[in-house]
Amino acid sequence: MAWPAESAPETLRDRVAALHALRASVRSGPDASATARQHAKGKLTVWERLDVLLDPGSFVELEGLRKHRAVGFGMERRHPPGDGVVTGWGTVDGRRVFVYAHDFRVFGGSLGEAHAQKIHKLMDLAEAAGAPLVSLNDGAGARIQEGVTGLAGYGGIFRRNVRASGVIPQISVLLGPCAGGAAYSPALTDFVFMVRGTAQMFVTGPDVVQAVTGEVITHEQLGGADVHARESGVATFVHDDEVSCLEDVRYLISMLPANNQEAPPAAGADDPADRLNTALLDLVPADPSLPYDMGEVVTEVLDDGEFLEFHEHWAGNVLCGLGRIDGHVVGVIANQPMVLAGVLDIAAAEKAARFVQTCDAFNIPLVTLVDVPGFLPGSDQEHRGIIRHGAKLLYAYCAATVPRVQVIVRKAYGGAYIVMDSRSIGADLSFAWPINEIAVMGAEGAANVVFRKEIAAAPDPAAARRDRITEYRDELMHPYYAAERGLVDDVIDPVRTRAVLAESLAVLRAKHAGQPYRKHGNPPS
Ligand code: HXC
Repeated sequence: MAWPAESAPETLRDRVAALHALRASVRSGPDASATARQHAKGKLTVWERLDVLLDPGSFVELEGLRKHRAVGFGMERRHPPGDGVVTGWGTVDGRRVFVYAHDFRVFGGSLGEAHAQKIHKLMDLAEAAGAPLVSLNDGAGARIQEGVTGLAGYGGIFRRNVRASGVIPQISVLLGPCAGGAAYSPALTDFVFMVRGTAQMFVTGPDVVQAVTGEVITHEQLGGADVHARESGVATFVHDDEVSCLEDVRYLISMLPANNQEAPPAAGADDPADRLNTALLDLVPADPSLPYDMGEVVTEVLDDGEFLEFHEHWAGNVLCGLGRIDGHVVGVIANQPMVLAGVLDIAAAEKAARFVQTCDAFNIPLVTLVDVPGFLPGSDQEHRGIIRHGAKLLYAYCAATVPRVQVIVRKAYGGAYIVMDSRSIGADLSFAWPINEIAVMGAEGAANVVFRKEIAAAPDPAAARRDRITEYRDELMHPYYAAERGLVDDVIDPVRTRAVLAESLAVLRAKHAGQPYRKHGNPPS
């Protein structure tokens, strides 16, 4: 609609009516067919998304009337208010969040100068107000008609993403195609949500891929939600539809502090902190080689069995996620014997390292449940840098100052024992079940290395080997060896695991730990 001119209405009421008409036109998009096209792709409009994400009526829009000032390529004839992005704040369960959301109906949600400046302003406000920032991404990347200004606009977003990193939670929700710059901003944030079938993320799209490499590939195959949830590890959470995705964003926010100066919100707990975990006695076999589902141990000890798992479809040999104990949010890291026997490999180390870092940044205590046979051996892992990637997990734990409690459920061998938040790298409290086996390696492997010559020279090598394995197990791998040396604080009855964790975390709630001054660390990458 045109701005009021000579023939503008005279009264304030007329002007107010004109303002409301203008706002309504912003919501409805450039034309009805653009909304229909959006729906036909299985996507909600930007306003429908905000309605699901935020508490009803809480959204306050900023710069809804902003327009671009670009010229050329027909841009002077198209000035949709808002310029393809909606920015503002609202509440989730009454807690303030800042949001920017692309409107794909306007220039494909592409980012030009004015569009970028709106986002910059919102990011600065979110940081100043100390509240989470949520981006709803559904845009075609840099606006082609605006040339380098779009690229510079992305630079300003990246710089702010990094500045706010570890200060306020940053949540990226991918609801459409996100190419180039639109993919790098999510990668700099704390959490990435994707919707199957409609969200894609790639640095260069299929056309460029084909032109450069000859590879023919679809958008979905190149950067769809499942690719990033299962292969690349870029997506933290993946959903089948937008509504369940946005509802889970609300759920995640309910577990996070507004900023790094606050604790995550505590909830009233109906589940008694000292509830006994009798089910665990039948769940975990004493034989260290037998599998079981560590996910069941996790849900058994958490309040009401609720566990928000991160990267559910990637690196399943380690479980990471948020839950509550006695109403207080905790981050759980646990080896999963059901997948690759719970071994630590490159992907598992990266996943857990990132999770530890995220929890530490946002004052979320860490609970580590250990049942790990070691690092995955082999040239593939070594050549792809298991040393470098495994060191990320070590670095993340060593640097973490939040309360840290370790429970050794069953076995913990070698470097993997140290890495999984052992006392020696800074766990505040460490407990072990009476089936724990903590050692440099399994008894069989140890006998092969230490007694190799003796076994070979024995009249009955098989019997000698058996004897040496038994000896090593009895001497070094009994469940009280570490407790006798103060490396675990106590050997506990598994049925009291939840109670011990609740008590430990309550004691550690007042923990205050610092780090020496430095500009920043230099973590392995
Ligand atoms: C301006 C764009 C646009 C762009 C699409 N449109 N991309 N306008 N700049 N980058 C417009 C279209 O002209 C169309 O306008 C409307 O958006 C919808 O586009 P469609 O192609 O009809 O939609 P769809 O079929 O759903 O395809 C969506 C798409 C495709 C996959 C995103 O449009 C596409 O590939 N666009 C180019 C993406 C791209 O290469 N972006 C630059 C990335 S590089 P009308 O008026 O017809 O509705 C980058 C640099 C930053 O971002 C790097 C920093 C590290």
